[in-house]
Amino acid sequence: MTNSEIKATLSFSDGSPSLEMPIYKGTVGPDVIDIRKLYATTGMFTYDPGFMSTAACNSSITYIDGDKGELLYRGYPIEQLAVNGGDFLETCYLLLNGELPNAAEKEKFVATVTNHTMVHEQMQFFFRGFRRDAHPMSVLVGTVGALASFYHDSLDINDPHHREVSAIRLIAKMPTLVAMAYKYSIGQPFVYPRNDLSYSANFMHMMFSTPCAPYKTNEVLVRALDRILILHADHEQNASTSTVRLAGSSGANPFACIAAGIACLWGPAHGGANEAALSMLEEIGSVDHIPEFIRQVKDKNSGVKLMGFGHRVYKNYDPRAKLMRETCYEVLQELGLQDDPLFKLAMALEKIALEDEYFVSRKLYPNVDFYSGIVQRALGIPTSLFTGIFALARTVGWIAQWKEMISDPEQKIGRPRQLFVGSQTREVQPIEKR
Ligand code: ACO
Repeated sequence: MTNSEIKATLSFSDGSPSLEMPIYKGTVGPDVIDIRKLYATTGMFTYDPGFMSTAACNSSITYIDGDKGELLYRGYPIEQLAVNGGDFLETCYLLLNGELPNAAEKEKFVATVTNHTMVHEQMQFFFRGFRRDAHPMSVLVGTVGALASFYHDSLDINDPHHREVSAIRLIAKMPTLVAMAYKYSIGQPFVYPRNDLSYSANFMHMMFSTPCAPYKTNEVLVRALDRILILHADHEQNASTSTVRLAGSSGANPFACIAAGIACLWGPAHGGANEAALSMLEEIGSVDHIPEFIRQVKDKNSGVKLMGFGHRVYKNYDPRAKLMRETCYEVLQELGLQDDPLFKLAMALEKIALEDEYFVSRKLYPNVDFYSGIVQRALGIPTSLFTGIFALARTVGWIAQWKEMISDPEQKIGRPRQLFVGSQTREVQPIEKR
């Protein structure tokens, strides 16, 4: 970040002295006005619910140009990473370290992650404490938070080695925990990881093997899962990542911070959208019902939204949605499901929405969740686990952002302020007088 020669001046119509504020330039994207001295100088806060115009940190991990529909991890376009960038663990290495690994670095990284895939045997007792129909996200919030109680040896956030070990543990153990949450919900025994398989193939093995039948790896399906993970690995300062940073700003340990991120991701406006998009398609049921559904979406009083459409940052086609659409074709083709009615419905709905004035004028395009639900369903992943898969993918982004924050000398505990609109000071009355 460099200082701009231009300064911003804030002036007041009541004649109060104006305030000059520095402007900083990033490498790409909007400049920022440094308002840190605003309160000390003027006694005023800024008001920005939803952080519509607020950069809460500086970061060199992920860049999004929402108008162009561009997503870069460490400068590399997501399209190139998804197609030529190797597997998910290469993306993890890139997000964590800033560069793609060479062959030796990759081999070492894969071996390190692979050696941490098992969870402590006692973790099983945590799972058994949950109702068997518990939502996997509640299980994940609990069990990821619980990991902190197993790793006292690596919780000193001021020690770079501890931070590194925690990062690896989280990336390595998330697939195991997500698969355990699934197995628990269907009453099957937990399946141990297999270290001879790739990250994604191992996850499918833990999901779909049973003691009676091994899972036969299908390369097309494993690649599809890998792509889901790459596309969801990071997305700059979204709600869950900001939650991880805010939790981490107090010095909380990384397992607790990631558990907080998972809790935030659970919401239907964020990670829950792929589950909601698939349920929406199931509810619409057939192409004939689309016009009525679109009518409801346009009616503000109905509360109905076209799930999987719209994005706070993308005001163009989400680049991840294009890649996910491609994967969707490949997977359905591989499984002989080209005529899948839900996919046909999604295509028809997308076409109608992209031509409709309501969506066009609001720049509402499909986001990645519109297609990822269909792909996951085809892979055999139950709807209730979709957000868990998202959490699994996003863990590397969260942990890379958390590590970046801890190493940032400008980092402070996050403490937003407020515009208070409640009662002024008043006297407590005895109960008989209230
Ligand atoms: N369906 C119908 N109308 C919509 C939708 C939608 N999916 N999204 C936005 N709009 C409308 C709003 O009603 C609003 O209309 P108005 O100007 O007439 O009042 C206008 O478009 C702008 O919408 P905002 O709510 O201001 O946009 P915001 O940036 O706050 O919301 C959000 C973004 C939350 C993602 C929203 O588009 C949404 O709820 N989409 C559906 C849920 C979804 O798919 N979420 C996934 C996000 S991506 C991810 O987490 C990986």
